[in-house]
Amino acid sequence: MKLPFIPEDAPYTGDQKSWLKGFLAGMQSAKALATSKSGALTAHQSDVTPIVDILFGTQTGNAEGLAMDAAAVARAQGFQANVQGLDDISMDTFSSMKNVIITIATYGEGEMPDNASLFWESLNSSSMPRLSDMKFGVLGLGDTGYDEFCQAGKLIDMRLEQLGAHRLVDRLDCDVDYEDIASDWINKTIPLTNDGKSKPIVVTDEKLANVKSIWNRKNPYPATLRVNKLLSGEQSLKEIRHFEIDLGDSGITYDTGDALNIMPINDDELVKSILLRLNLSSELVLVGEDKTLADLLKYKYEISTPSRNFIAAIEVQAGDDLLSHVLNNGDKQALADYLWTKDVLDLLNLNQDIKFTGSEFVGLLKPLQHRAYSISSSPKKHVGSVHLTVASVRWNSNEREHLGVCSTFLADRVDVDEKVGIFVSPNKAFRIPDNNDSPMIMVGPGTGIAPFRAFLEERHCIGAEGKNWLFFGDQTRSSDYIYEEELAALKDSGVLSRLDLAFSRDQDEKIYVQHKMSEHGEDLFEWLQNGGYFYVCGDATRMAKDVDQALCDIASKWGNLTADQAREYVNNLKREKRYLRDVY
Ligand SMILES: Cc1cc2nc3c(=O)[nH]c(=O)nc-3n(C[C@H](O)[C@H](O)[C@H](O)COP(=O)(O)OP(=O)(O)OC[C@H]3O[C@@H](n4cnc5c(N)ncnc54)[C@H](O)[C@@H]3O)c2cc1C
Ligand SMILES: NC(=O)c1ccc[n+]([C@@H]2O[C@H](COP(=O)([O-])OP(=O)(O)OC[C@H]3O[C@@H](n4cnc5c(N)ncnc54)[C@H](OP(=O)(O)O)[C@@H]3O)[C@@H](O)[C@H]2O)c1
Ligand SMILES: Cc1cc2nc3c(=O)[nH]c(=O)nc-3n(C[C@H](O)[C@H](O)[C@H](O)COP(=O)(O)O)c2cc1C
Repeated sequence: MKLPFIPEDAPYTGDQKSWLKGFLAGMQSAKALATSKSGALTAHQSDVTPIVDILFGTQTGNAEGLAMDAAAVARAQGFQANVQGLDDISMDTFSSMKNVIITIATYGEGEMPDNASLFWESLNSSSMPRLSDMKFGVLGLGDTGYDEFCQAGKLIDMRLEQLGAHRLVDRLDCDVDYEDIASDWINKTIPLTNDGKSKPIVVTDEKLANVKSIWNRKNPYPATLRVNKLLSGEQSLKEIRHFEIDLGDSGITYDTGDALNIMPINDDELVKSILLRLNLSSELVLVGEDKTLADLLKYKYEISTPSRNFIAAIEVQAGDDLLSHVLNNGDKQALADYLWTKDVLDLLNLNQDIKFTGSEFVGLLKPLQHRAYSISSSPKKHVGSVHLTVASVRWNSNEREHLGVCSTFLADRVDVDEKVGIFVSPNKAFRIPDNNDSPMIMVGPGTGIAPFRAFLEERHCIGAEGKNWLFFGDQTRSSDYIYEEELAALKDSGVLSRLDLAFSRDQDEKIYVQHKMSEHGEDLFEWLQNGGYFYVCGDATRMAKDVDQALCDIASKWGNLTADQAREYVNNLKREKRYLRDVY
């Protein structure tokens, strides 16, 4: 590649210009680097111990956990198991692998998780070599509540086949209740990577080291809620709350950047309304169940967001033209818009003739799931306690107040000093920099501020000297400036070096965090050039996409790069793990 001409009057200093030349030269030598990395992996050619490469694509750790499980199974069977994130391997290294297991979650609307996006870009490129010597198996994680179920796994599985790799076993697409079927698939697949010739089981140290927390989705810890405080003002159109949860004797530890999962309990009033609508007794006990129907609906099933099967069953009985139209015309956005404000009871109420027996109804529901919340405290500052920053989901439609299950469970239905089921999802890809001197730029409007409160507290506690810059915003300064006093104190103490605020509804035109980024683009670019880390947290569908584009525009303008080079610059930040996101 020819280096682009850098004009003398380009808007940066001499030092920055030489850095930029270095960056562009770095792009040229990326291939050479990849080759030398693969050279280091000559162990792949070992003919003594069978090798299996286990690669994961994850956001909240489930796929990584399964990759670790698969490695433990493989090691116990005498394999050398190498576990890596998908974006941590060069394509040269990947192409040289012989036995590959991929565990991968799906995000956005059928997209790759952040730590697999660059891998997918390369795998999908026309320059990708054939992979005829590779045997592979793909385990996809997803949620049938989303349109594009397990799409990331499906895409990778299909592309590997296209490239000539040999499928060891059919792809497994897992829904939310994935643990048991995933474990069966792993136990079945690992021996196949050595043509079925497994060595005798040897329990290794690594296997013993792969110890998990005893508190998990199936066994949440009953923690005590200690604080439930309204953060947003009386006049706010939103309700954002601060929660503090006591970790008691659980032994649970966490790092800043992790998420806390809450197991909600459904609202009694909604259970009653649904039973009344279906003319079913709350005391009914269904065959094979040990709980009453009312308790099943309260504790075990998702009775707010309708499942795909439930929607399909409703359509058959409802005779509702609009529902049939949005379900069958293939316009996924129209269907999503139609469903956005409707819960299970709204769909039952489409037509009073809709009827289900207790078993039919329960058979159409999905199991009640935990919800994840980005932890907003540093464990160093708040020993034994975990804090959350949660927007209560409430809306009115069809002459009824609708409640988000978990956010209002925390807000309304757990009293202070009562128990709430929790477990932690580590997010190793979303951490403060290892180097305490590295600058951090954090973009977190709305509840997106949560992990950054934790990051700032953490840096304060460890005395990190790196500069910290926060972009925060919400609707109005008077009602939605949450943690205002804490941020002011952090600013006074010098921990928060810069704070830029974007209150979207305080003026006629919208001002968002990305507008503030652009306004200070030159400084932001300089922070990045000085080794800065760029973090984003909050709304995935609108904000995070616009912030990503603003970052590219800043790189283009202040780095004097073409649009393609700016995108590559941003991709490079991702490769260096200096562009990190926690978006939902
Ligand atoms: C990794 C991760 C971290 C997260 N961190 C945070 C965090 O720090 N803070 C936080 O508040 N949330 C966070 N979330 C989101 C959180 O997990 C829940 O999704 C959120 O609290 C809503 O859950 P709920 O059970 O209250 O609502 P649900 O019962 O799940 O209801 C959501 C549904 O309600 C409907 N709906 C929602 N809003 C409206 C509206 N205004 N009008 C009409 N219909 C509507 C839509 O159909 C939507 O699908 C995070 C999510 C993830 C994945
Ligand atoms: N899918 C949706 O339609 C929708 C809507 C709201 C919230 N949510 C969900 O609600 C949660 C987060 O809500 P939250 O209360 O923390 O904050 P939020 O609703 O994301 O709002 C925070 C701030 O971001 C602004 N904003 C809106 N669009 C933006 C964009 N494209 N770029 C940058 N900023 C933008 C908002 O302005 P304005 O509100 O003034 O535009 C507000 O000032 C997430 O789960 C999110 O996915 C989804
Ligand atoms: C914001 C968000 C978007 C998601 N989008 C999809 C999707 O489009 N398709 C799907 O099958 N699953 C989707 N999921 C479900 C995840 O893939 C699933 O929870 C998975 O177990 C997460 O694995 P991880 O912990 O390895 O990231 C989504 C989850 C979240 C939080």
